[in-house]
Order: sequence, then C-alpha cells, then structure tokens
Amino acid sequence: MPSRIEKGLETIAAGIMGAVKATKGKLSGLTGVFEHLAREHGEVTALLVRLKASSDPELRSFLFPKIRAELLSHEKGELAEVFPLFARFVELAPFAKRHDSDANKLEALLDELTSLPYTDARWTRRFNDLVAAVDRHATEEENVFFPVASKILGRETTKKVLERYEATKKRIMKSLGTGAKGDANGAQRVETAAKRRSLTKPAERTAPRVATRKSAKKAATPGRAKAKRAGASKKAPASKKKSSPR
Ligand SMILES: [Fe+2]
Repeated sequence: MPSRIEKGLETIAAGIMGAVKATKGKLSGLTGVFEHLAREHGEVTALLVRLKASSDPELRSFLFPKIRAELLSHEKGELAEVFPLFARFVELAPFAKRHDSDANKLEALLDELTSLPYTDARWTRRFNDLVAAVDRHATEEENVFFPVASKILGRETTKKVLERYEATKKRIMKSLGTGAKGDANGAQRVETAAKRRSLTKPAERTAPRVATRKSAKKAATPGRAKAKRAGASKKAPASKKKSSPR
C-alpha cells in the first residue's frame, strides 16, 4: 500500500476517534439502534472529511468504495429495519417520508460518483455534494428523528431493532462487496421488501411503548386489528392469518 495511503489511514483513524468523541456528546437521550446509527454517522463522516481534503485519485479509488458500501448499507439497513417502524406512529411517520426522499438523493449521488472517473473535475463537485448531503442527513436524524423515536419506542424496542439492523446491514454489506460497482441487487431486494412492509402498516395513532411489532399493532389499533382479523379469516388462507413478529 502506498505510503500516502498509509498516512491517510492514520489520519482517518485519528479522525474516527475524534468523530466518535464528538458524537458522544450528542448521544445523550438516544438508545439502542439510534445510539448506534449516530456513531456510524460519526465514523463515515471522518472518512468523508479525509477524502474531501485530497484530490489524489489513488486515495479516492481506495476510500470511495468503502464509503459507498458504508453509506448504502447504512441507508438500506435504516430503510429495512428502522423507518417501517416509524410509519406506524403519527409522530414519526413524517420522518419516514422525509428519509425516503433523502435516501433517493444520496443514492443518485453515489451512482453518479461511481460512473465518473476519479480524475474528472465533476467528481470533486459531486463528492462535495455528497459530504453536504450526509451532513444534512446525520444532523436531521440525530437532532430531530432519533430523540423523538427513542422516547416513543423505548429502550427495549430500540435494542431489538438494533439486533435486526446489524444483521440486515451485514447482509447488505456482503451483497455490495467493496468494489466500486458492487452488487446492489441484494440490497435492492431488502429495500423493496421493507417498502412493501411500510405500505401495509400505515400510521394510526400513538401507542406509548411497544416491545414487538405484534404488541404495538395490538396496542395501537385494537378495533381495526380485530376487524382485519375477522375479514382475513373469511378471505385469506389459514397460513396468512398469523404474521410472526420480528
Ligand atoms: Fe442515518
């Protein structure tokens, strides 16, 4: 590995430690998956800042695939495991919609960067746009979405969501590989399934605290759930009546 990349890595390691320390201050009040996601923001921000400071194509070819895989797996993990849960609470549902639009913009920027040569002047401009977009994403989530969601969902649920998020992110990361192009198909499948789930569970009203999706659904809409069950028993086959809690 060239020495300037090694030097870059040392700076990155120091940057990550700094970003994690800085993030620590913002973590009070965040629990489970939200605390973890905020830490991930700090880590990827350190990589982004490091790469923004350089125009070396070799460092770009070394770091950009890692940043891309990290950002895509983070976004798609959130889309699969975190935001479908938001869609079930009136206070959180608007956050899920806003996140969907931000995630699309972020992905379009990553696609454009992937298609451009590292030596192209447009690469620098688009990368600066990416840094700004990630900063907006992280700031909004950490200052607005996550504190409210931590309060509404409670410690126990956010811990369970963290386990699911980590497993999903690992799966997506594997499907992406670390190549610049990666294989986005696996990630796409996870996202599509998540969107399907969020569309079938619209926001109704707030349940103060939930432990699982099943109990949340029961607490939030007892009348509707009962009516749905009665309807389902007429139309759906027996195997579709029970959807196992995740
Ligand atoms: Fe995030």
